[in-house]
Amino acid sequence: MPALIFYGSHAVLTNPSQVIIRNQETLSQHKVLVLNHEADSLPKALLDVAQSVDALALDYHHYLHLAPQANAKLRCYFGHQLPHQDKYDTVIVYFPKAKPLAPYLFNLAAQHLVADGQLLVVGENKGGVKSLVKLLPKYFATGIKLDNARHCLLFGSSLIDTAPEIKLSDWTSQYQLATPQGNITICNLVGVFSEKHLDQGTELLLSHLPTLSGRVLDFGCGAGVIAAALLKAQPTLSLECIDINAMALASCELTLAANGMTAKVYPSDGLAQTSGKFDGIISNPPFHDGLASTTSIAQSFVADSAKQLQSKGIWQIVANRHLPYSDTIAAEFGQLTVPAENNKYKLYYFQQA
Ligand SMILES: C[S@@+](CC[C@H](N)C(=O)[O-])C[C@H]1O[C@@H](n2cnc3c(N)ncnc32)[C@H](O)[C@@H]1O
Repeated sequence: MPALIFYGSHAVLTNPSQVIIRNQETLSQHKVLVLNHEADSLPKALLDVAQSVDALALDYHHYLHLAPQANAKLRCYFGHQLPHQDKYDTVIVYFPKAKPLAPYLFNLAAQHLVADGQLLVVGENKGGVKSLVKLLPKYFATGIKLDNARHCLLFGSSLIDTAPEIKLSDWTSQYQLATPQGNITICNLVGVFSEKHLDQGTELLLSHLPTLSGRVLDFGCGAGVIAAALLKAQPTLSLECIDINAMALASCELTLAANGMTAKVYPSDGLAQTSGKFDGIISNPPFHDGLASTTSIAQSFVADSAKQLQSKGIWQIVANRHLPYSDTIAAEFGQLTVPAENNKYKLYYFQQA
């Protein structure tokens, strides 16, 4: 997790945000757009100098953190793009943890900059921002290093040419997948899990998909691999696909459409935005939060899903066998079945009484 500090009356700021604050005079009276912000109040803090700030989060947890602070000068959005074409004097990009997403964010920034508008890119040294000068598309001037502090780098540039319009198909890799349930088409936007190939954990899960019925949840749906395989084999399921990541949700929608399937796809941080009970819950749960490895997301998911499983409901996940899930699962569900495992992954299965 990035280090956090308090900034005046504002809530905690991450290291990259502190570096932006150190350089905020460059935003004086600007209309500012912040892309891919973190779980802090930096966009609100910028109102001390900026004329107005819009913030687009690609992570739903980050959006939920900022959204309650929205006001007439601070608009907050979640998604893979803005719902309007407004232009800004400055766009600030937080260099993404998933590096392949960076060129997409630069294209998006260019769409929303006035001619000669300012681009600022900030990121942690260990996160790939060092290669910014090579990564910046030609419609931006050569990136210049503006600051180096708090283990982060801040680069500046300006828009010098017209950028291509964003067509999602240009940012999607589409591939056919032969699964035990039949052939499916996967549409994977840049930066989303399993961009080029099927994850080995997901593969083990698909090889032992349980027969489900009724209302089923795919937690951390990513590009919709499990969702599409499930619906291929069991088309009458009422499936809900949730993820925290906007690019994943957009990918899942594209995958379902490409296979002529329908499901309810919506953002959720853990199970917080779901309601009611499910007859089935299935997942290849995350064990990363940004750059940090964590078991806490999966552990909360186990505890929360135990409460949201209908009687006779089926729960099955796949996890890296070295992660310490079995104790949590046994503590929540009482008993634990392992229907399959290999040298890297294990399936965990439970049926509610
Ligand atoms: C291991 S990937 C699995 C993706 C897909 N189900 C598959 O098997 O290819 C885990 C997914 O969980 C999502 N995720 C991470 N943290 C989350 C959270 N707190 N709430 C919901 N989804 C989350 C990630 O964005 C990612 O798409």
